[in-house]
Amino acid sequence: MKLPDPLFNIRPTPPPATTPRFIDLSDDVPNSPAARSMVQELAEGLSAKEASIAPKFFYNALGSRLFEAITALDEYYPTRTEAGIFDASHAQIAQTLAEAGLTHPCLIDLGAGNCAKAQALIPHLQPRQYVPVDISVDFLKAAAGQLQNSFPALDIVGVGMDFSASLALPDEVQEHDRVFFYPGSSLGNFQPTQALDFLRQMTDPLKGRARGLLLGIDLVKDSATLQAAYDDALGVTAAFNKNLLRNVNTLLGTDFDVRQWRHVALFNTEASRIEMHLEARQDLTLSWPGRTRRFLAGERIHTESSYKYTLESMTALLNQAGFSTLRHWSDPKQWFAVFWAAV
Ligand code: AVJ
Repeated sequence: MKLPDPLFNIRPTPPPATTPRFIDLSDDVPNSPAARSMVQELAEGLSAKEASIAPKFFYNALGSRLFEAITALDEYYPTRTEAGIFDASHAQIAQTLAEAGLTHPCLIDLGAGNCAKAQALIPHLQPRQYVPVDISVDFLKAAAGQLQNSFPALDIVGVGMDFSASLALPDEVQEHDRVFFYPGSSLGNFQPTQALDFLRQMTDPLKGRARGLLLGIDLVKDSATLQAAYDDALGVTAAFNKNLLRNVNTLLGTDFDVRQWRHVALFNTEASRIEMHLEARQDLTLSWPGRTRRFLAGERIHTESSYKYTLESMTALLNQAGFSTLRHWSDPKQWFAVFWAAV
């Protein structure tokens, strides 16, 4: 039998690609001010007596994929629990926004990643403009393109930037009816005092210009559940943590050997935070352009804090930041909460 010639395969013509607008203010632009300050920040963190690397450096192309894999793990309950809350409460959430006069808001999605959460929420909130923001530029570009195909008429303005330092958004972002969407408990990466500063930037009429904030936050629970979520049986979180070293090798030119480091995750009860560290398995010397540093076996690099709140502590923080009207939705076990905070 003669096999069909693949050249004669007639493929359906794909629909014309709708590419959303995209503004890249990230460090991906070589030698940009953002890129130079990243290098400096990394060098300072690695030179400090208690070495640290900021969690935003997890999210290179592989890191964004590994995080996506984390969200599918049995132990990692936050993503699934939050999705369940939105699923059960989207009508009430939409109504709450409508009552605040926000029927067609400008929805600013901080750390949008694969835009999966927005995908589910957009039909209910019906934003006039959707602004996904992420430090992982190529990953976000692809996700925003996909989303545009789902919502061809939606005005999408993608922004590639590190918003952890400043929330100053480009001029293309509509100034009125801004609603910040900050799901996934990413606010937990900030120390509480930094979280307060960050939330105040949102309510600042000259900066974030927020009319409201839709926030997802992980709640305090038994430490075994918390610890398992950050030290899963498959070792995906360990890979996610160690991949940071590969990214730093690219960005700073360090010579980290991933095999020399061990993943450590613990719940610090007093500080109410999960801590992730990378621990040297042996004495070693780390080098990067212009410097070396010794690490002794057992010495750690702090890579992430993920603060856990209570309904009370988050309410207090939001009020301090200048939000007034608060509402929240939670799951039956009260493991996670979604807050609506109006300015
Ligand atoms: C994206 C910051 C919300 O803290 O749970 C997941 C990141 N780190 N597993 C979190 C993370 C390890 C995540 N946030």
